Amino acid sequence: MTPLLVYLFLAAQDGSEQSRFFDERVAPILRKNCLACHNHELADGDVSFEDRETLVKVRAKRGAAVVPGEPEKSALVHAIRRDGDVQMPPGNKLAAADVETLIDWIRRGAPWGAQPK
Ligand code: HEC
Repeated sequence: MTPLLVYLFLAAQDGSEQSRFFDERVAPILRKNCLACHNHELADGDVSFEDRETLVKVRAKRGAAVVPGEPEKSALVHAIRRDGDVQMPPGNKLAAADVETLIDWIRRGAPWGAQPK
């Protein structure tokens, strides 16, 4: 293969690998723990996990819930680490492994897959 083809091949693989990471690792956590309140209808906290565009959008007073590539700037990370005023999910905290998975996902640029529903 020419270097260009190798590059395109790797880039395409990387894309599907990223969306698989979302579908298999991230979406189940969101579906189980977050979507009941953070969907387009309720959008608690002005946050919806139904599409990426909404999630990375800058909200009026509070900045973006997710800043791709920047876990420390993402309100979501502080909420699930419970190190600020807003602690998510309400009640029991997420398992440590799930917290790590969501942080890792944002660090990778918050890639999306199919809808998390
Ligand atoms: C029972 C409903 C409910 C569930 C379940 C829930 N949230 Fe929330 N979430 C809220 C409400 C209500 C707010 C607004 C809180 C406030 O403004 O004080 C909020 C706010 C947020 C915010 C905005 C924080 C900020 O500082 O702007 C984020 C991010 C968030 N939730 C993430 C999550 C994540 C991730 C999960 C799942 C792990 C989750 N939430 C589960 C109700 C919920």
